[in-house]
Amino acid sequence: MAVNDASHRIIGDLLTRKTGQQLTEGRRWRISTALGGLFRELGIDNVDQLACLLGRPGEHHLATKVVEALLNNETYFFRDHAYFSVLADQVLPELALKRKNTRRLAIWSAGCSTGQEALSLAMTFAEQPGRWQDWHIDIIGTDISGKAVATAKTGCYSQFEIQRGIGVAQMLNFFSETPRGWQAADRICAMTRFQQRNVLDCPPSPGRFDLILCRNVLLYFDPETRRRAFDRLASATARDGFLMMGAGETVHGQTDRFEAAEYGSSLYVPRSEAVRVRTRSENPALA
Ligand SMILES: C[S@@+](CC[C@H](N)C(=O)[O-])C[C@H]1O[C@@H](n2cnc3c(N)ncnc32)[C@H](O)[C@@H]1O
Repeated sequence: MAVNDASHRIIGDLLTRKTGQQLTEGRRWRISTALGGLFRELGIDNVDQLACLLGRPGEHHLATKVVEALLNNETYFFRDHAYFSVLADQVLPELALKRKNTRRLAIWSAGCSTGQEALSLAMTFAEQPGRWQDWHIDIIGTDISGKAVATAKTGCYSQFEIQRGIGVAQMLNFFSETPRGWQAADRICAMTRFQQRNVLDCPPSPGRFDLILCRNVLLYFDPETRRRAFDRLASATARDGFLMMGAGETVHGQTDRFEAAEYGSSLYVPRSEAVRVRTRSENPALA
């Protein structure tokens, strides 16, 4: 289906205003593929009609539906499995030492989609019972998509979703089959909570996190918006905490708020003010 420039602009501006994401020329195709279901629901057959409907006053509900449909919520359990091994074997043990006095950890899955990332973390803790006994583990997942967050809150997954990323042993250990789907066990749900929230707004409570995962979320932001997101993430990362991004994502050349952690795997640590001052003089574009 052809999407003319005016309709592309109207729908792209809407997405950017609500989420910070860009619907660039290269992603114009997404309008017709992602919105097919909405066209059927509205009884329309082209994007221009949708653009006209969006122009009518009081169409907030429709605008939300369009944005929800355009978001890419792709996720699965233990996505990029090797990264979860680094978390389990290197990062979490280091945090266990650093927080041994308080025995509390706060973790933020920013852009959590339907919750698999947060639950994968919860399973990681549950698989190390000796280390984490009597700890308070608080994993908050946030996403701009109300629909995705609603699914995350149920902790219930279809046969297709449950088969993506976890083995049979984990599936049987942490989920039980119900008429609605595969329900996550209370002991892992108890570590997680979910909220609808824009990563460009204030971070969720408690505001400072020992570990933040923000993976495959900032891909469609323009450089300026991405830098704002990094500022938010940096302000929410404990001074001795970590940020993990997705495979192939990096902070390099995008912000001076983080630098590579020793573990690799798209792991970063907040950069000290002294190093930032030096970096700014070397690369004023990042200041
Ligand atoms: C591709 S999914 C990634 C999910 C998970 N982090 C992973 O790597 O499997 C990207 C998620 O980011 C969310 N998202 C996009 N823009 C956002 C924003 N401005 N604030 C919060 N979430 C956003 C989308 O709704 C989507 O669920």
